[in-house]
Amino acid sequence: MCGIVGYIGQQDSKEILLKGLEKLEYRGYDSAGIAVINDNGVRVFKEKGRIAVLRQIVDQTEQAPVGIGHTRWATHGVPSQVNAHPHQSTSGRFTLVHNGVIENYSIIHREYLQDVELKSETDTEIIVQVIEKFISEGLEIEEAFRKTLTILKGSYALALLDSKDKETIYIAKNKSPLLIGLGDNFNVVASDAMAMLQVTDQYVELMDKEMVILKQHSVTIKNLEGTVIERNPYTAELDASDIEKGTYPHYMLKEIDEQPAVIRKIIQKYQSDDNQLVIDQDILYAMNAADRIYIVAAGTSYHAGLVGKEYIEKMAKIPVEVHVASEFSYNMPLLSEKPLFIFISQSGETADSRGVLVQIKELGYKALTITNVQGSTLSREADYTLLLHAGPEIAVASTKAYTAQIAVLSILAAVTAEAKGLGLDFDLVRELGIVANGMEVLRDAKEEMERIALEYLATTRNCFFIGRAIDFYVGLEGALKLKEISYIQAEGFAGGELKHGTIALIENGTPIIALATQERVNLGIRGNVKEVVARGANPCIISMKGLETEEDRYVLPSVNEMLTPLLSVIPLQLISYYAALHRDCDVDKPRNLAKSVTVE
Ligand code: M6R
Repeated sequence: MCGIVGYIGQQDSKEILLKGLEKLEYRGYDSAGIAVINDNGVRVFKEKGRIAVLRQIVDQTEQAPVGIGHTRWATHGVPSQVNAHPHQSTSGRFTLVHNGVIENYSIIHREYLQDVELKSETDTEIIVQVIEKFISEGLEIEEAFRKTLTILKGSYALALLDSKDKETIYIAKNKSPLLIGLGDNFNVVASDAMAMLQVTDQYVELMDKEMVILKQHSVTIKNLEGTVIERNPYTAELDASDIEKGTYPHYMLKEIDEQPAVIRKIIQKYQSDDNQLVIDQDILYAMNAADRIYIVAAGTSYHAGLVGKEYIEKMAKIPVEVHVASEFSYNMPLLSEKPLFIFISQSGETADSRGVLVQIKELGYKALTITNVQGSTLSREADYTLLLHAGPEIAVASTKAYTAQIAVLSILAAVTAEAKGLGLDFDLVRELGIVANGMEVLRDAKEEMERIALEYLATTRNCFFIGRAIDFYVGLEGALKLKEISYIQAEGFAGGELKHGTIALIENGTPIIALATQERVNLGIRGNVKEVVARGANPCIISMKGLETEEDRYVLPSVNEMLTPLLSVIPLQLISYYAALHRDCDVDKPRNLAKSVTVE
């Protein structure tokens, strides 16, 4: 949440910052701003709304080779011009952008800044004001910056300009992601390598509680005790085409279409030279040593975790619990004797999940992170990582990461089963290949999905998704997808549960999207559909070949029953996409949301 960029070099920084912010807009889009510095001093441009709005107010007449920028997801204070970053100290000497949440900002205000009149409602302004306060007490800038960092509690990625020194950007990180990018005659800072891929693919990772003195020709990393830290750069393995929309109108549609390729890539990445599925031995050891697995995740990743539970229990015969991360910390269940934790997170940065990871590490338990982002916080802090290999997911609504999570979980379960000597009655590589082919068929079903969206969802105010067994979990994901991008009130239910209360909401024409991909519950779910139809509902049944009846609206290609979530979610993603499109919603950047949720 919130994105940061900074540039120090010889070129005019403004366009580099604006382009960088455009690539970070997925992290929040309530307001945006940049501050640039040249011989005439610091200039700040900031506005409520998107980068496109900011672009219109940036004065391009003066060149400025140093600058910082920010795109905001509001936490402290409403989205507004005043609350937009960068924030300045009262004298205007210091200018700061911040990603994260300062938990003790009101204490700092009370203890250090009683005489300072704040302009904004943000926690960020406290930081820049306290730096100025320490300077007024006689500290040099580096000392004042370091002292400020030592009193901050919470999460931060910071970039600071000092108008008296146009040759330095002061940078710091704790819990919020931040990278330094290296170039010839310039250096950059960014929340995500994607933002600065336009100028460099060479990056240096930063660890928590580190600060950086960034200059055009040098990068000095120090810990808060002042010790200099040496760290080698790495090459960001991102292809510029991965982060562009290409010919697609929206990232979400592009990412939905990428799913067959992602499944094939996962198969390839997890296969050995002799075509066997392989998982790191240490992970297998940890899986087999566990008497119970706790999957912890949020949102779509939580829904993937529910499917993962099915796989691990059915294939590897290890009991699994799936928990919503934001609840786990405060409501920890009674743990088994030898638990193993699996964190599922596309971004690897979700604060709710990280909170649990920190907690369980303190208790001495092992953790595996399944993530799309190598080097992300959840990956670095867990004992083991499995990567999704889905490529950057930019649309706020998660699509290809969900199917990638399920595919990786299926491989983890199958390889664990094999290591335990439990035979599977199917060849997973072959079955995943069949799934990828089925996904290709769905790429050509867009017109039909658009028709369904128009027929069922054009004007409705609510919609229910029902399914039984594994279809229920996919229904939960379908409902999340629909509500987050189209703002239609949508809920997922176990088919048999409706009659215990929710059926009271069924009126004439209420759309019900029912999934029927599981043979053993096929009759059951069809019975549930009849119950709601008798009360006026408008049913849209999505079934699988071999289980279909005449009343079905769409029939999916046949795949292994365990793997149907990989396929049945795609019509739901597409229906949500078209419903949002026809309701004139901002598909890729739905209101109030951000891609990477780094606040608890
Ligand atoms: O990056 P994560 O997978 O940890 O994110 C978790 C949720 O915030 C995320 O899945 C969210 O629910 C998506 N917007 C759903 O499309």
